[in-house]
Amino acid sequence: MSNAASKTFTLTDNQSGESFDLPVFDGSVGPSVIDVRRLYGDTGHFTYDPGFTSTGSCDSAITFIDGDEGILLHRGYAIDDLAERADFLEVAYLLLNGELPTAAQKATFDHDVTYHTMLHEQLSNFYRGFRRDAHPMAIMCGVVGALSAFYHDSLDIYDPHQRMVASFRLVAKMPTIAAMAYKYSIGQPFNYPQNDLSYAENFLHMMFSVPSETYVMNPVLSKAMDRIFILHADHEQNASTSTVRLAGSSGANPFACIAAGIASLWGPAHGGANEAVLNMLTEIGHKDRIAEYIKKARDKDDPFRLFGFGHRVYKNYDPRAKVMQETCHEVLAELGVEDPLLDLAMELEKLALEDEYFVSRKLYPNVDFYSGIILKAMGFPVSMFTVLFAVARTVGWVAQWKEMIEDPGQKIGRPRQLYTGPDARPYIPIDQR
Ligand code: SDX
Repeated sequence: MSNAASKTFTLTDNQSGESFDLPVFDGSVGPSVIDVRRLYGDTGHFTYDPGFTSTGSCDSAITFIDGDEGILLHRGYAIDDLAERADFLEVAYLLLNGELPTAAQKATFDHDVTYHTMLHEQLSNFYRGFRRDAHPMAIMCGVVGALSAFYHDSLDIYDPHQRMVASFRLVAKMPTIAAMAYKYSIGQPFNYPQNDLSYAENFLHMMFSVPSETYVMNPVLSKAMDRIFILHADHEQNASTSTVRLAGSSGANPFACIAAGIASLWGPAHGGANEAVLNMLTEIGHKDRIAEYIKKARDKDDPFRLFGFGHRVYKNYDPRAKVMQETCHEVLAELGVEDPLLDLAMELEKLALEDEYFVSRKLYPNVDFYSGIILKAMGFPVSMFTVLFAVARTVGWVAQWKEMIEDPGQKIGRPRQLYTGPDARPYIPIDQR
């Protein structure tokens, strides 16, 4: 944040007539912030913003979102450019280091990630402790958290070398851990990573190859996988990233912080929405029933929401959803799949975007609306959809965690509250209650 306030906001207490000047700081792009750090000390009042709808929690130079214009930039580069022209590890390098890599830097980065993809062999024992029908996100929470029991030489968050090693280990091992969760659920043997494959190719190989035959890589699918990873890599201070930052602010080790991020992502209002969209489309079943579900989504007394629609920040089309829809058509065409759920999704989008309830609230399809249809066509079970989101988002979580740890002004996150419970009262012995 720039050190000089660009202006001040003056807060006046109408009862006492006292005024308080609050400095305003400008970012490089986007909304300025009113610095309220002294508010409680000066006024004895907290700010109040459940859900953080109007609260900036940190400075960050990683990702910028203009929700009104539907713009998403990673270190200044537009998501559609990156999805079109970069590969996932190039974007990962950009998120972690702030600049696009040179060819030499990219080659070194790819090598370093590749040579961290294997897991300590004993970690495979953790899988056998789970039921075969455990949700793979439960396994991800457990196994990723357990990494801190194995990689003791990358736990010291104040050692830049150990932070770098932990970052590589997390980005590199997530696909391996995820693929093992899938293989375990279907009773097939684990596949080891292959160092001659790209990040996305390696993941598809570990997911779908079997020892009894040679796995044939489909370049259209591996490109689509790589692009899906790019679209999910980072997204400013969303719920799971904020969870990772808050966990990291206490000095917790990076593996524990990422496990916390995975847990937060699992919710259907967040990363779990891609799984919820597929289940919703399957439940709707036919175009004739769309109106019934739009009515349910509009009904305040009905908890049902249109999954894959709406966003805290985007009040325009999520730019990732556009790329995702294009990729959806490419993958289904390549596979020769005619998925009625795609037609259903497109009809649902059309009708929702013509409905006053959605138009007035600026509810558009988000990144999760089409992703599940692609993943289903590629052979992923619905239960793996959020796992893939976690695999891709790990580099964003790590980049944001690293930025926080390296911020000299960093302190433990500890919000306050508006207390609405009882005031002090005497203890009453149980025989007198
Ligand atoms: C992700 O934050 C990120 O960046 C997240 C993410 C990332 O990359 O990290 O982009 C990934 O999580 C995408 C969102 C995936 N979730 C879903 O698709 C679930 C369905 N969407 C909703 O649950 C909702 O839109 C949220 C959770 C995404 C956003 O919630 P907000 O900002 O708290 O929205 P809101 O509740 O303030 O909604 C405003 C109004 C409300 O109606 P009113 O009270 O004004 O009458 O819009 C309504 C909401 O009821 N509304 C919906 C709706 N989304 C919002 N009504 C029906 N269906 C919906 N999907």
